[in-house]
Amino acid sequence: MLETLRSVLQFRKFEFDPVERRLGRAANVDDLRRIAKRRLPGGVFDYIDGAAEDEVTLGRNTGGFDDIEFRPRVLRDVSAIDTSTEVLGNRIPLPLIMAPTGFGRIADPAGELAVTRAAARARLPYTLSTMATRSIEKVAEAQANVTVGLDGEAIEANRRWFQVYVWKDKGLLKELLDRARESGYESIMITVDTAVLGRRERDVRRGFTLPPKIGLDTIVDGAIHPSWTWDFVRAEPILFANVVGSADSDGSAPVTLADHINSQFDQALSWSDIEWFQSMWDGPVILKGVQTVEDAVIAADLEIEAIALSNHGGRQLDGAPPPIELVAPVAQAVGGRTEIYCDGGVRRGSDIVKAVALGATACMIGRAYLYGLAAGGERGVDWVIDFLASGMEQTMALTGVRTIDEVSSELVRFRPNR
Ligand code: FNR
Repeated sequence: MLETLRSVLQFRKFEFDPVERRLGRAANVDDLRRIAKRRLPGGVFDYIDGAAEDEVTLGRNTGGFDDIEFRPRVLRDVSAIDTSTEVLGNRIPLPLIMAPTGFGRIADPAGELAVTRAAARARLPYTLSTMATRSIEKVAEAQANVTVGLDGEAIEANRRWFQVYVWKDKGLLKELLDRARESGYESIMITVDTAVLGRRERDVRRGFTLPPKIGLDTIVDGAIHPSWTWDFVRAEPILFANVVGSADSDGSAPVTLADHINSQFDQALSWSDIEWFQSMWDGPVILKGVQTVEDAVIAADLEIEAIALSNHGGRQLDGAPPPIELVAPVAQAVGGRTEIYCDGGVRRGSDIVKAVALGATACMIGRAYLYGLAAGGERGVDWVIDFLASGMEQTMALTGVRTIDEVSSELVRFRPNR
């Protein structure tokens, strides 16, 4: 009897490394989100996870992908799948870009450095936020130190981009662009959906500030999440590393994000400023936050190299359309004249295949890698990239396409009677 039991029962080996243990239990990005929720203090998790007002757009961003069905073709020899594509003149292994996210170090002490290194290893573009907690120079250095890719081959060039929030202080803006150019950033991504900050009601409710203010509630929350608290108190202070000493609020005193953005960012920003950026920057210019066909056409007429269809992950205007629904009409209007990126709600490789089928050049992710970062540090970000890459391969195999060129509008349809 014991013999028989022993032959059918196989005990899983206990994993002593806590990060491996956590990641080993995750099957998808939602699982990482749940782990992140357990590990982070409530205010920090809500800052990352939350969105504007009733979070209707947040829900529709992910839901928008569910409204699209595949038209899988069979018997097509899918023994070799190639997910690689071209973005801004460079070949990358899959149509995926790391979107800019500020305050990376509240998720993990390595913050932006972990994300940029993981992106470099995977040979994917990384976009550094103006509001990052690691500087332009430090991120460039961390990326340059990654010399071997996941494939074991030497990395010849890193793809690093810089996201620009348009400050009222044009001197500061020019200085940021000069520093990015000197540190080898190839493209700038101007975020145009943040004239004022969206009303993020989870943050309002908690009185959330950056860096987090220490009050009685933080102490209680910190005691419940000891590993985060220990990392936070041991690490050097979290600052807006790109504007330390140059902006009125650089993170050295806690501020609400709304106060910071509403006082520092230029609400008069208009299309003529975009032409100023084009004259200031000799590499590609990307506009992030385009949300209508009309604006996509203006951008293409201005010869903008790429537009990111994005509603800031639902964090700005609640009621904004899900980017995935804009891809086809925008591609029809401007496809071929400018590259089209889609961000908001991308959680699986199949989402990327859907966006590309509708006409996107690539997708960008924000929360997906932040959940990975909070759940497992740098290895958590590797996990997410690998999960999306293998999900893409699997979807392509199951829908009968072998290359990105074969991923066309024939592959998908919007579900009837939505
Ligand atoms: C962001 N996003 C963002 N965008 C930007 O242009 N500059 C920034 O500093 C930030 N910061 C930021 C912080 C956090 C915590 C999140 C979640 C998002 C928006 C980001 O670039 C991207 O548009 C969304 O994250 C895409 O949606 P998903 O992938 O999070 O669903």
